Amino acid sequence: VEVLRQQAPRFAAMGLDFRVRAVCVADAARQRPELAHLRLTRTAGGAGAGAGDATLLTTDHTALTEDPAIDMLVEVAGGTGAARTAVLSAARRGKSVVTANKALLAAHLPEMEAAFPADGRARLGFEAAVAGGVPIIRAMQQSLAPDTVTSVAGILNGTTNFMLSAMASAGAPYADVLREAQAAGFAEADPTADVEGHDARNKLVLLARLGLGVTLPVGAVRTVGISGVTPADFALARELGCTVKLIGRAALTGGGSCGGGKASAVEASVTPALVPLDGALGTTGGALNLVAVDSAYVGRSEYRGPGAGRFPTANSVVADMLSIALGTASAPPFPLPRALTGGRALSDDVTCEAFVRLSGSDGGRVGAAGEAVAAALGAQQPRPRAVTQTARAAGGSVGLLVDGGSLNAVTAAVARAVPAGGGVTVAVYPVFR
Ligand SMILES: NC(=O)c1ccc[n+]([C@@H]2O[C@H](COP(=O)([O-])OP(=O)(O)OC[C@H]3O[C@@H](n4cnc5c(N)ncnc54)[C@H](OP(=O)(O)O)[C@@H]3O)[C@@H](O)[C@H]2O)c1
Repeated sequence: VEVLRQQAPRFAAMGLDFRVRAVCVADAARQRPELAHLRLTRTAGGAGAGAGDATLLTTDHTALTEDPAIDMLVEVAGGTGAARTAVLSAARRGKSVVTANKALLAAHLPEMEAAFPADGRARLGFEAAVAGGVPIIRAMQQSLAPDTVTSVAGILNGTTNFMLSAMASAGAPYADVLREAQAAGFAEADPTADVEGHDARNKLVLLARLGLGVTLPVGAVRTVGISGVTPADFALARELGCTVKLIGRAALTGGGSCGGGKASAVEASVTPALVPLDGALGTTGGALNLVAVDSAYVGRSEYRGPGAGRFPTANSVVADMLSIALGTASAPPFPLPRALTGGRALSDDVTCEAFVRLSGSDGGRVGAAGEAVAAALGAQQPRPRAVTQTARAAGGSVGLLVDGGSLNAVTAAVARAVPAGGGVTVAVYPVFR
């Protein structure tokens, strides 16, 4: 509402006059200085919403979705309960919806798509749902529409990027940077959705549907969070010219990556990964987000900016409101028909270089485990192109770089070579160059 207020003269010049007819909140008694410029009423008037130029403040979303005078619902409540009911109810009544809610869209993607058909009256805008202020949705809906996207990969969660950037620069352990992120307001009191990769996975589901035309079942995406990342990972990665980032990636595999129609499978994962220190992913620090798209015509294009925050997110929300009001919103919201990409299997593997880190308090044991892993990988069929042992990092950690192959195969070989409970902990990360 602050952006609508500030930019009212600009929108008026475009022939648009946005009126906030009703605001639905969880707690109607709370003071709302951000709404001070509106004439708030708690009394329903007319058909159930604000009378005259007053704005109804309510806890009942049906007062919004059932008011025939309301054309558009902006859903920034979050969650998949009341938000889902309100969005579907609005769509059924021909009201357009703008939402920032990736959890809702990812969990109910086919249902949400069906609610906003191209030939219906209601439009769906969700620019704010992926990478906050970064205009990636419109780029994929419209600017890359003629192209064949072969992969989308990126830093999709600002909280974890803030934490990993702090670990990289300060050498601090995970628990310390989590506390720091919570104190700075970058992490929630319950950080699970961010640190376990669930939030990034929701965004990946939307990007994969837009770019690759596939609907990834949320629970089927290989998802590893950052709570197991250690300072030794950064020290070892640096020796390889890399750093560690939480990367969400969906890519076509299995037969010609550029033909689009020829690829038979889609690999999708959210996992800590090694990326080059001097590349686009490696230099995206703090709470920034970055999405890198590979496509047949354009090649690599990259979109970087603030992944959250009041005004970056509000800009994306209001941009969607503008395109809906001006009639330029994408219809349908996910333009690439599924029929074009049907039959592609979802793989939880990652075809890539792999990095194996072994650590423990007994340097001798760690070294022996490293030898065992190298031998196990060497005996694997097909044999990886190379296994390189990097130097030991402080604290008795060893890193091995496995050149080429399947992350699942490497993980299985490592698990066979280093039994759990032997005093050596192991992590396997993909390397995305
Ligand atoms: N924060 C960001 O930078 C950002 C960026 C991109 C996307 N998003 C998405 O935006 C959504 C909201 O996130 P947020 O961080 O802004 O959350 P938030 O600060 O908790 O705000 C949620 C708002 O929704 C209201 N609300 C919650 N449940 C409700 C219900 N059942 N009925 C009516 N109103 C309800 C709350 O009312 P009260 O004020 O009464 O508590 C509050 O005003 C999420 O889907 C999130 O993923 C946020």
